[in-house]
Amino acid sequence: MTAAKPAGSNKIATLTGPDGKVTQLPIIDGSVGPSVIDVRKLYNDTGYFTYDPGYTSTGSCESKITYIDGDQGILLHRGYAIDELAEKGDFLEVAYLILNGELPTADQKAGFVQNVTYHTMVHEQMTQFWRGFRRDAHPMAVMCGVVGAMAAFYHDSTDITDPRQREIASYRLIAKMPTIAAMAYKYSVGQPFMYPQNKLSYAENFLYMMFGIPCEDYKMSPVLGKAMDRIFILHADHEQNASTSTVRLAGSSGANPFACIAAGIASLWGPAHGGANEAVLEMLAEIGSKDKVGEAVKRAKNKDDNFRLMGFGHRVYKNFDPRAKIMQKTCHEVLGELGIKDPLLDVAMELEKVALQDDYFVQRKLYPNVDFYSGIILKAMGIPTSMFTAIFALARTVGWVAQWREMIEDPQQKIGRPRQLYTGAAKRTYVPVEKRR
Ligand code: SDX
Repeated sequence: MTAAKPAGSNKIATLTGPDGKVTQLPIIDGSVGPSVIDVRKLYNDTGYFTYDPGYTSTGSCESKITYIDGDQGILLHRGYAIDELAEKGDFLEVAYLILNGELPTADQKAGFVQNVTYHTMVHEQMTQFWRGFRRDAHPMAVMCGVVGAMAAFYHDSTDITDPRQREIASYRLIAKMPTIAAMAYKYSVGQPFMYPQNKLSYAENFLYMMFGIPCEDYKMSPVLGKAMDRIFILHADHEQNASTSTVRLAGSSGANPFACIAAGIASLWGPAHGGANEAVLEMLAEIGSKDKVGEAVKRAKNKDDNFRLMGFGHRVYKNFDPRAKIMQKTCHEVLGELGIKDPLLDVAMELEKVALQDDYFVQRKLYPNVDFYSGIILKAMGIPTSMFTAIFALARTVGWVAQWREMIEDPQQKIGRPRQLYTGAAKRTYVPVEKRR
Protein backbone atom coordinates (compact mmCIF):
# COMPACT_ATOMS: atom_id res chain seq x y z
CA MET A 1 0.00 0.00 0.00
CA THR A 2 1.56 3.34 -0.96
CA ALA A 3 0.54 6.46 0.93
CA ALA A 4 -1.72 8.74 -1.13
CA LYS A 5 0.49 11.64 -2.11
CA PRO A 6 -0.79 14.97 -3.49
CA ALA A 7 -0.86 14.52 -7.26
CA GLY A 8 1.67 17.15 -8.33
CA SER A 9 2.02 20.46 -6.46
CA ASN A 10 0.18 22.26 -9.26
CA LYS A 11 -3.25 21.07 -8.05
CA ILE A 12 -4.20 23.27 -5.13
CA ALA A 13 -7.52 24.42 -3.66
CA THR A 14 -7.39 27.93 -2.20
CA LEU A 15 -9.50 28.88 0.81
CA THR A 16 -9.92 32.51 1.85
CA GLY A 17 -11.11 32.96 5.45
CA PRO A 18 -13.33 35.83 6.74
CA ASP A 19 -10.12 37.51 7.93
CA GLY A 20 -8.81 37.43 4.37
CA LYS A 21 -6.16 34.82 5.26
CA VAL A 22 -5.52 32.53 2.25
CA THR A 23 -4.95 28.81 2.87
CA GLN A 24 -3.71 26.48 0.16
CA LEU A 25 -4.96 22.88 0.34
CA PRO A 26 -3.38 20.15 -1.80
CA ILE A 27 -5.62 18.16 -4.16
CA ILE A 28 -5.04 14.41 -4.42
CA ASP A 29 -6.15 12.56 -7.56
CA GLY A 30 -7.41 8.99 -7.37
CA SER A 31 -6.96 6.47 -10.20
CA VAL A 32 -10.67 6.79 -11.10
CA GLY A 33 -13.42 9.09 -9.84
CA PRO A 34 -13.43 12.36 -7.85
CA SER A 35 -10.20 13.90 -6.57
CA VAL A 36 -10.04 14.96 -2.92
CA ILE A 37 -9.05 18.17 -1.16
CA ASP A 38 -6.58 17.20 1.54
CA VAL A 39 -7.84 19.01 4.68
CA ARG A 40 -5.59 17.25 7.17
CA LYS A 41 -3.83 20.54 8.01
CA LEU A 42 -6.95 22.74 7.84
CA TYR A 43 -7.51 23.06 11.60
CA ASN A 44 -3.86 23.70 12.36
CA ASP A 45 -3.63 26.32 9.59
CA THR A 46 -7.05 28.01 10.01
CA GLY A 47 -8.58 27.03 13.37
CA TYR A 48 -11.62 25.75 11.46
CA PHE A 49 -13.03 22.20 11.31
CA THR A 50 -14.89 20.92 8.26
CA TYR A 51 -18.53 20.02 8.99
CA ASP A 52 -20.13 17.06 7.20
CA PRO A 53 -22.64 15.04 9.31
CA GLY A 54 -23.30 11.74 7.45
CA TYR A 55 -20.08 12.24 5.50
CA THR A 56 -21.90 13.20 2.28
CA SER A 57 -18.76 14.91 0.91
CA THR A 58 -16.00 13.37 2.98
CA GLY A 59 -13.46 10.74 2.01
CA SER A 60 -12.44 8.86 5.18
CA CYS A 61 -9.56 6.88 3.70
CA GLU A 62 -7.69 5.82 0.61
CA SER A 63 -8.75 2.42 -0.74
CA LYS A 64 -8.04 0.18 -3.74
CA ILE A 65 -10.80 -2.36 -3.14
CA THR A 66 -14.14 -1.08 -4.50
CA TYR A 67 -15.12 1.79 -6.74
CA ILE A 68 -18.70 3.05 -7.18
CA ASP A 69 -19.85 5.55 -9.80
CA GLY A 70 -23.28 6.49 -8.41
CA ASP A 71 -24.32 8.52 -11.45
CA GLN A 72 -23.47 5.77 -13.95
CA GLY A 73 -24.61 2.92 -11.68
CA ILE A 74 -21.19 1.28 -11.83
CA LEU A 75 -19.69 -1.01 -9.13
CA LEU A 76 -16.14 -2.35 -9.54
CA HIS A 77 -14.25 -4.71 -7.26
CA ARG A 78 -10.50 -4.27 -7.89
CA GLY A 79 -11.51 -2.95 -11.34
CA TYR A 80 -13.84 -5.80 -12.32
CA ALA A 81 -17.54 -4.93 -12.92
CA ILE A 82 -20.02 -6.55 -10.54
CA ASP A 83 -22.19 -7.89 -13.39
CA GLU A 84 -19.21 -9.75 -14.89
CA LEU A 85 -18.19 -11.14 -11.51
CA ALA A 86 -21.77 -12.20 -10.70
CA GLU A 87 -22.25 -13.87 -14.10
CA LYS A 88 -18.83 -15.49 -14.55
CA GLY A 89 -17.30 -15.91 -11.10
CA ASP A 90 -18.18 -17.57 -7.81
CA PHE A 91 -18.18 -16.15 -4.30
CA LEU A 92 -14.86 -17.50 -3.05
CA GLU A 93 -13.13 -16.39 -6.25
CA VAL A 94 -14.57 -12.88 -5.75
CA ALA A 95 -13.59 -13.06 -2.08
CA TYR A 96 -10.00 -13.83 -3.10
CA LEU A 97 -10.07 -10.89 -5.53
CA ILE A 98 -11.44 -8.46 -2.92
CA LEU A 99 -8.92 -9.63 -0.31
CA ASN A 100 -5.81 -9.91 -2.50
CA GLY A 101 -6.37 -7.50 -5.41
CA GLU A 102 -6.15 -10.00 -8.28
CA LEU A 103 -8.30 -12.85 -9.60
CA PRO A 104 -6.70 -16.11 -8.39
CA THR A 105 -4.91 -18.60 -10.63
CA ALA A 106 -6.34 -22.10 -10.51
CA ASP A 107 -3.78 -23.12 -7.85
CA GLN A 108 -4.33 -19.96 -5.79
CA LYS A 109 -8.08 -20.52 -5.90
CA ALA A 110 -7.75 -24.16 -4.87
CA GLY A 111 -5.52 -23.17 -1.95
CA PHE A 112 -7.89 -20.39 -0.85
CA VAL A 113 -10.95 -22.64 -1.07
CA GLN A 114 -9.13 -25.30 0.96
CA ASN A 115 -8.15 -22.78 3.65
CA VAL A 116 -11.68 -21.47 3.94
CA THR A 117 -13.19 -24.97 3.87
CA TYR A 118 -10.97 -26.19 6.70
CA HIS A 119 -11.98 -23.32 8.99
CA THR A 120 -15.76 -23.70 8.67
CA MET A 121 -16.31 -25.58 11.95
CA VAL A 122 -16.66 -23.53 15.13
CA HIS A 123 -15.04 -24.47 18.47
CA GLU A 124 -17.41 -27.08 19.89
CA GLN A 125 -17.74 -25.17 23.15
CA MET A 126 -19.17 -22.19 21.22
CA THR A 127 -22.35 -24.18 20.70
CA GLN A 128 -23.04 -23.56 24.40
CA PHE A 129 -23.57 -19.86 23.66
CA TRP A 130 -26.86 -20.64 21.97
CA ARG A 131 -28.22 -22.18 25.18
CA GLY A 132 -28.15 -18.68 26.64
CA PHE A 133 -30.33 -17.14 23.92
CA ARG A 134 -34.13 -17.24 23.77
CA ARG A 135 -35.36 -19.36 20.85
CA ASP A 136 -36.93 -16.27 19.32
CA ALA A 137 -33.73 -14.18 19.55
CA HIS A 138 -33.16 -12.24 16.32
CA PRO A 139 -30.32 -13.90 14.35
CA MET A 140 -28.50 -10.56 14.15
CA ALA A 141 -28.49 -10.34 17.96
CA VAL A 142 -27.00 -13.84 18.05
CA MET A 143 -24.38 -12.99 15.42
CA CYS A 144 -23.34 -9.77 17.20
CA GLY A 145 -22.82 -11.76 20.39
CA VAL A 146 -21.23 -14.90 19.01
CA VAL A 147 -18.86 -13.17 16.55
CA GLY A 148 -17.64 -10.79 19.23
CA ALA A 149 -17.12 -13.76 21.53
CA MET A 150 -14.91 -15.49 18.92
CA ALA A 151 -12.09 -13.43 20.45
CA ALA A 152 -12.56 -15.57 23.56
CA PHE A 153 -11.88 -18.77 21.59
CA TYR A 154 -9.38 -17.72 18.96
CA HIS A 155 -6.83 -15.81 21.04
CA ASP A 156 -4.07 -17.01 18.71
CA SER A 157 -5.36 -14.71 15.93
CA THR A 158 -6.07 -11.49 17.78
CA ASP A 159 -2.65 -9.80 17.54
CA ILE A 160 -3.33 -7.32 14.74
CA THR A 161 0.39 -6.48 14.38
CA ASP A 162 1.16 -10.04 13.22
CA PRO A 163 0.38 -10.52 9.48
CA ARG A 164 0.05 -14.29 9.94
CA GLN A 165 -2.52 -13.81 12.74
CA ARG A 166 -4.40 -11.28 10.60
CA GLU A 167 -4.54 -13.89 7.83
CA ILE A 168 -5.75 -16.67 10.12
CA ALA A 169 -8.40 -14.40 11.66
CA SER A 170 -9.56 -13.50 8.12
CA TYR A 171 -10.01 -17.18 7.21
CA ARG A 172 -11.78 -17.92 10.48
CA LEU A 173 -14.23 -15.04 10.07
CA ILE A 174 -15.05 -15.71 6.41
CA ALA A 175 -15.29 -19.48 6.93
CA LYS A 176 -17.28 -19.53 10.16
CA MET A 177 -19.86 -16.84 9.38
CA PRO A 178 -22.14 -19.23 7.39
CA THR A 179 -21.86 -21.82 10.17
CA ILE A 180 -22.78 -19.27 12.85
CA ALA A 181 -25.65 -17.83 10.78
CA ALA A 182 -27.07 -21.30 10.07
CA MET A 183 -26.71 -22.23 13.76
CA ALA A 184 -28.72 -19.12 14.67
CA TYR A 185 -31.50 -20.33 12.36
CA LYS A 186 -31.40 -23.96 13.53
CA TYR A 187 -31.61 -22.88 17.16
CA SER A 188 -34.63 -20.66 16.39
CA VAL A 189 -36.55 -23.61 14.88
CA GLY A 190 -35.45 -26.15 17.49
CA GLN A 191 -33.51 -28.34 15.05
CA PRO A 192 -30.02 -29.75 15.68
CA PHE A 193 -27.00 -27.86 14.36
CA MET A 194 -25.65 -29.34 11.11
CA TYR A 195 -21.88 -29.61 10.78
CA PRO A 196 -20.35 -28.13 7.60
CA GLN A 197 -19.60 -30.60 4.78
CA ASN A 198 -16.18 -30.10 3.16
CA LYS A 199 -17.35 -31.60 -0.14
CA LEU A 200 -19.86 -28.77 -0.68
CA SER A 201 -19.22 -25.29 -2.10
CA TYR A 202 -19.40 -22.30 0.25
CA ALA A 203 -22.97 -21.40 -0.76
CA GLU A 204 -24.19 -25.02 -0.90
CA ASN A 205 -22.67 -25.63 2.53
CA PHE A 206 -24.69 -22.74 3.93
CA LEU A 207 -27.93 -24.10 2.43
CA TYR A 208 -27.07 -27.56 3.77
CA MET A 209 -26.43 -26.21 7.29
CA MET A 210 -29.68 -24.23 7.08
CA PHE A 211 -32.04 -26.87 5.71
CA GLY A 212 -30.32 -30.23 6.13
CA ILE A 213 -31.50 -32.56 8.94
CA PRO A 214 -29.71 -35.60 10.39
CA CYS A 215 -32.59 -37.95 9.48
CA GLU A 216 -32.14 -37.87 5.70
CA ASP A 217 -29.84 -36.77 2.90
CA TYR A 218 -30.29 -33.15 1.84
CA LYS A 219 -31.28 -32.74 -1.81
CA MET A 220 -29.24 -29.78 -3.03
CA SER A 221 -30.77 -27.69 -5.79
CA PRO A 222 -28.01 -26.44 -8.13
CA VAL A 223 -30.20 -23.45 -9.07
CA LEU A 224 -30.63 -22.42 -5.44
CA GLY A 225 -26.94 -23.03 -4.76
CA LYS A 226 -26.01 -20.76 -7.67
CA ALA A 227 -28.57 -18.14 -6.62
CA MET A 228 -27.22 -18.15 -3.05
CA ASP A 229 -23.66 -17.83 -4.34
CA ARG A 230 -24.68 -14.89 -6.53
CA ILE A 231 -26.44 -13.18 -3.62
CA PHE A 232 -23.24 -13.53 -1.61
CA ILE A 233 -21.23 -11.96 -4.47
CA LEU A 234 -23.65 -9.02 -4.75
CA HIS A 235 -23.29 -8.25 -1.03
CA ALA A 236 -19.55 -8.80 -0.65
CA ASP A 237 -18.27 -5.24 -0.45
CA HIS A 238 -19.47 -1.72 -1.14
CA GLU A 239 -16.81 0.94 -0.46
CA GLN A 240 -17.14 2.96 2.76
CA ASN A 241 -20.78 2.22 3.69
CA ALA A 242 -21.94 2.63 7.29
CA SER A 243 -20.98 -0.84 8.51
CA THR A 244 -17.62 -0.88 6.73
CA SER A 245 -16.82 2.54 8.16
CA THR A 246 -17.78 1.15 11.58
CA VAL A 247 -15.35 -1.74 11.13
CA ARG A 248 -12.58 0.66 10.07
CA LEU A 249 -13.22 3.02 12.99
CA ALA A 250 -13.27 0.15 15.50
CA GLY A 251 -10.12 -1.30 13.94
CA SER A 252 -8.31 2.06 14.04
CA SER A 253 -8.06 1.76 17.83
CA GLY A 254 -6.30 -1.61 17.48
CA ALA A 255 -9.35 -3.65 18.53
CA ASN A 256 -9.15 -7.35 17.62
CA PRO A 257 -10.69 -8.42 14.29
CA PHE A 258 -13.58 -10.36 15.86
CA ALA A 259 -14.68 -7.29 17.87
CA CYS A 260 -14.42 -5.11 14.73
CA ILE A 261 -16.58 -7.45 12.63
CA ALA A 262 -19.11 -7.69 15.48
CA ALA A 263 -19.30 -3.88 15.39
CA GLY A 264 -19.92 -4.05 11.63
CA ILE A 265 -22.73 -6.56 12.18
CA ALA A 266 -24.34 -4.20 14.70
CA SER A 267 -24.24 -1.29 12.24
CA LEU A 268 -25.51 -3.37 9.31
CA TRP A 269 -28.56 -4.38 11.38
CA GLY A 270 -30.14 -0.94 11.01
CA PRO A 271 -33.19 -0.75 8.69
CA ALA A 272 -31.62 2.15 6.76
CA HIS A 273 -28.70 -0.16 5.90
CA GLY A 274 -28.56 -3.96 5.83
CA GLY A 275 -31.84 -4.31 7.72
CA ALA A 276 -33.62 -2.91 4.66
CA ASN A 277 -34.01 -6.32 2.96
CA GLU A 278 -36.09 -7.53 5.91
CA ALA A 279 -37.96 -4.20 5.94
CA VAL A 280 -38.73 -4.49 2.19
CA LEU A 281 -40.61 -7.76 2.74
CA GLU A 282 -42.51 -6.27 5.66
CA MET A 283 -43.40 -3.24 3.53
CA LEU A 284 -44.56 -5.35 0.56
CA ALA A 285 -46.66 -7.49 2.88
CA GLU A 286 -48.13 -4.32 4.46
CA ILE A 287 -49.02 -2.95 1.00
CA GLY A 288 -50.56 -6.35 0.28
CA SER A 289 -51.72 -5.95 -3.31
CA LYS A 290 -50.96 -4.06 -6.52
CA ASP A 291 -53.98 -1.81 -6.16
CA LYS A 292 -52.63 -0.47 -2.83
CA VAL A 293 -49.27 0.59 -4.36
CA GLY A 294 -50.47 4.09 -5.24
CA GLU A 295 -51.39 4.74 -1.61
CA ALA A 296 -47.93 3.54 -0.44
CA VAL A 297 -46.17 5.84 -2.91
CA LYS A 298 -48.33 8.72 -1.69
CA ARG A 299 -47.37 7.98 1.93
CA ALA A 300 -43.66 7.77 1.00
CA LYS A 301 -43.87 11.30 -0.45
CA ASN A 302 -45.70 12.75 2.55
CA LYS A 303 -43.21 14.57 4.77
CA ASP A 304 -45.55 14.21 7.74
CA ASP A 305 -45.44 10.45 7.37
CA ASN A 306 -42.15 8.75 8.22
CA PHE A 307 -43.05 5.87 5.90
CA ARG A 308 -40.31 5.32 3.31
CA LEU A 309 -40.16 2.93 0.40
CA MET A 310 -37.70 0.41 1.78
CA GLY A 311 -35.34 -0.87 -0.89
CA PHE A 312 -35.41 2.50 -2.65
CA GLY A 313 -32.78 5.20 -2.63
CA HIS A 314 -29.10 5.17 -1.91
CA ARG A 315 -26.54 7.66 -0.63
CA VAL A 316 -24.25 7.03 -3.60
CA TYR A 317 -26.31 5.53 -6.45
CA LYS A 318 -28.28 8.23 -8.24
CA ASN A 319 -29.03 5.67 -10.93
CA PHE A 320 -30.06 2.02 -10.78
CA ASP A 321 -28.00 0.06 -8.25
CA PRO A 322 -26.27 -2.42 -10.61
CA ARG A 323 -26.77 -5.11 -7.99
CA ALA A 324 -30.54 -4.54 -8.07
CA LYS A 325 -30.62 -5.27 -11.81
CA ILE A 326 -28.78 -8.58 -11.32
CA MET A 327 -30.95 -9.36 -8.30
CA GLN A 328 -34.11 -8.73 -10.34
CA LYS A 329 -32.90 -11.19 -13.01
CA THR A 330 -32.00 -13.78 -10.37
CA CYS A 331 -35.39 -13.26 -8.76
CA HIS A 332 -37.20 -14.26 -11.93
CA GLU A 333 -34.83 -17.24 -12.44
CA VAL A 334 -35.41 -18.60 -8.93
CA LEU A 335 -39.18 -18.10 -8.91
CA GLY A 336 -39.36 -19.65 -12.39
CA GLU A 337 -37.23 -22.62 -11.33
CA LEU A 338 -39.33 -23.17 -8.22
CA GLY A 339 -42.59 -22.56 -10.08
CA ILE A 340 -43.55 -19.96 -7.48
CA LYS A 341 -46.00 -17.16 -8.24
CA ASP A 342 -45.29 -14.80 -5.35
CA PRO A 343 -47.88 -11.99 -5.12
CA LEU A 344 -45.26 -9.93 -3.28
CA LEU A 345 -43.19 -9.97 -6.48
CA ASP A 346 -46.20 -8.58 -8.36
CA VAL A 347 -46.47 -5.84 -5.72
CA ALA A 348 -42.72 -5.15 -6.02
CA MET A 349 -42.84 -4.91 -9.83
CA GLU A 350 -45.86 -2.54 -9.64
CA LEU A 351 -44.13 -0.45 -6.96
CA GLU A 352 -40.99 -0.19 -9.08
CA LYS A 353 -43.04 0.82 -12.15
CA VAL A 354 -45.10 3.48 -10.30
CA ALA A 355 -42.18 4.93 -8.33
CA LEU A 356 -39.89 5.22 -11.36
CA GLN A 357 -42.56 7.25 -13.16
CA ASP A 358 -43.25 9.52 -10.19
CA ASP A 359 -41.57 12.97 -10.19
CA TYR A 360 -40.80 12.79 -6.46
CA PHE A 361 -38.59 9.74 -6.98
CA VAL A 362 -37.26 10.82 -10.36
CA GLN A 363 -36.18 14.25 -9.10
CA ARG A 364 -34.51 12.71 -6.03
CA LYS A 365 -32.97 9.94 -8.16
CA LEU A 366 -34.45 7.28 -5.93
CA TYR A 367 -34.04 3.89 -7.63
CA PRO A 368 -34.39 0.32 -6.33
CA ASN A 369 -31.25 -0.71 -4.43
CA VAL A 370 -29.67 -4.06 -3.68
CA ASP A 371 -32.24 -4.81 -0.99
CA PHE A 372 -35.32 -4.37 -3.15
CA TYR A 373 -35.36 -7.84 -4.75
CA SER A 374 -33.07 -9.86 -2.50
CA GLY A 375 -35.77 -10.46 0.09
CA ILE A 376 -38.17 -11.92 -2.48
CA ILE A 377 -35.51 -14.39 -3.66
CA LEU A 378 -34.59 -15.39 -0.11
CA LYS A 379 -38.26 -15.83 0.82
CA ALA A 380 -38.75 -18.04 -2.28
CA MET A 381 -35.79 -20.13 -1.10
CA GLY A 382 -37.58 -20.76 2.17
CA ILE A 383 -35.36 -18.47 4.23
CA PRO A 384 -37.22 -16.66 7.03
CA THR A 385 -37.26 -12.85 6.88
CA SER A 386 -35.36 -12.60 10.15
CA MET A 387 -32.38 -14.31 8.47
CA PHE A 388 -32.11 -11.85 5.55
CA THR A 389 -29.77 -9.38 7.22
CA ALA A 390 -27.75 -12.23 8.72
CA ILE A 391 -27.12 -13.41 5.15
CA PHE A 392 -26.11 -9.89 4.18
CA ALA A 393 -23.66 -9.86 7.14
CA LEU A 394 -22.33 -13.31 6.16
CA ALA A 395 -21.47 -12.07 2.66
CA ARG A 396 -20.24 -8.62 3.70
CA THR A 397 -17.72 -10.19 6.09
CA VAL A 398 -15.38 -10.56 3.10
CA GLY A 399 -15.54 -6.81 2.45
CA TRP A 400 -15.26 -5.90 6.10
CA VAL A 401 -12.19 -8.12 6.53
CA ALA A 402 -10.55 -6.78 3.35
CA GLN A 403 -11.18 -3.15 4.33
CA TRP A 404 -10.00 -3.82 7.89
CA ARG A 405 -6.74 -5.37 6.60
CA GLU A 406 -6.24 -2.49 4.16
CA MET A 407 -6.68 -0.01 7.01
CA ILE A 408 -4.24 -1.86 9.31
CA GLU A 409 -1.63 -2.05 6.52
CA ASP A 410 -2.05 1.62 5.51
CA PRO A 411 1.06 3.54 6.66
CA GLN A 412 -1.12 6.67 6.99
CA GLN A 413 -3.61 4.97 9.29
CA LYS A 414 -4.29 6.76 12.60
CA ILE A 415 -6.97 6.24 15.22
CA GLY A 416 -10.21 7.72 13.90
CA ARG A 417 -11.21 10.67 16.05
CA PRO A 418 -13.66 13.14 14.40
CA ARG A 419 -14.25 16.61 15.91
CA GLN A 420 -17.61 18.44 16.17
CA LEU A 421 -19.55 21.69 15.95
CA TYR A 422 -20.31 22.36 19.63
CA THR A 423 -23.58 24.25 20.28
CA GLY A 424 -24.03 23.41 23.96
CA ALA A 425 -23.64 25.63 27.05
CA ALA A 426 -20.49 27.73 27.47
CA LYS A 427 -18.46 27.35 30.73
CA ARG A 428 -20.60 28.05 33.83
CA THR A 429 -20.21 27.71 37.64
CA TYR A 430 -21.67 24.89 39.75
CA VAL A 431 -24.84 25.89 41.68
CA PRO A 432 -25.50 24.11 45.02
CA VAL A 433 -28.82 22.22 44.99
CA GLU A 434 -30.38 24.49 47.64
CA LYS A 435 -29.87 27.48 45.33
CA ARG A 436 -31.34 25.88 42.22
CA ARG A 437 -34.76 27.05 41.09
C1 SDX B 1 -27.76 -0.40 1.78
O1 SDX B 1 -23.95 2.76 1.72
C2 SDX B 1 -24.10 1.67 1.11
O2 SDX B 1 -23.40 1.38 0.18
C3 SDX B 1 -25.19 0.75 1.66
C4 SDX B 1 -25.43 -0.54 0.87
C5 SDX B 1 -24.24 -1.46 0.98
O3 SDX B 1 -24.12 -2.35 0.11
O4 SDX B 1 -23.51 -1.38 1.98
O5 SDX B 1 -25.65 -0.23 -0.49
C6 SDX B 1 -26.63 -1.30 1.41
O6 SDX B 1 -27.81 0.02 2.91
C7 SDX B 1 -28.75 0.01 0.72
C8 SDX B 1 -29.79 1.05 1.26
C9 SDX B 1 -30.88 0.25 2.01
N1 SDX B 1 -31.77 1.15 2.71
C10 SDX B 1 -33.06 1.33 2.33
O7 SDX B 1 -33.55 0.82 1.32
C11 SDX B 1 -33.88 2.20 3.27
C12 SDX B 1 -34.69 3.22 2.45
N2 SDX B 1 -33.75 4.18 1.87
C13 SDX B 1 -33.54 5.41 2.60
O8 SDX B 1 -33.66 5.36 3.97
C14 SDX B 1 -32.41 6.27 2.01
O9 SDX B 1 -32.58 6.29 0.67
C15 SDX B 1 -30.97 5.90 2.33
C16 SDX B 1 -30.73 5.76 3.79
C17 SDX B 1 -30.59 4.62 1.65
C18 SDX B 1 -30.07 7.03 1.79
O10 SDX B 1 -30.39 8.16 2.50
P1 SDX B 1 -29.64 9.56 2.21
O11 SDX B 1 -28.62 9.43 1.15
O12 SDX B 1 -29.22 10.15 3.51
O13 SDX B 1 -30.80 10.39 1.52
P2 SDX B 1 -31.77 11.32 2.30
O14 SDX B 1 -32.35 10.60 3.47
O15 SDX B 1 -31.09 12.62 2.52
O16 SDX B 1 -32.95 11.47 1.22
C19 SDX B 1 -32.87 12.46 0.19
C20 SDX B 1 -34.33 12.75 -0.16
C21 SDX B 1 -35.16 13.13 1.08
O17 SDX B 1 -36.25 13.95 0.62
P3 SDX B 1 -36.07 15.58 0.70
O18 SDX B 1 -35.65 15.91 2.12
O19 SDX B 1 -34.99 15.91 -0.32
O20 SDX B 1 -37.43 16.12 0.34
O21 SDX B 1 -34.95 11.56 -0.67
C22 SDX B 1 -35.98 11.13 0.20
C23 SDX B 1 -35.74 11.82 1.53
O22 SDX B 1 -36.98 12.00 2.22
N3 SDX B 1 -35.86 9.67 0.29
C24 SDX B 1 -36.89 8.83 0.27
C25 SDX B 1 -36.30 7.55 0.33
N4 SDX B 1 -34.98 7.66 0.41
C26 SDX B 1 -34.69 8.97 0.39
N5 SDX B 1 -38.24 9.03 0.19
C27 SDX B 1 -39.02 7.91 0.18
N6 SDX B 1 -38.52 6.64 0.23
C28 SDX B 1 -37.19 6.43 0.31
N7 SDX B 1 -36.70 5.18 0.37
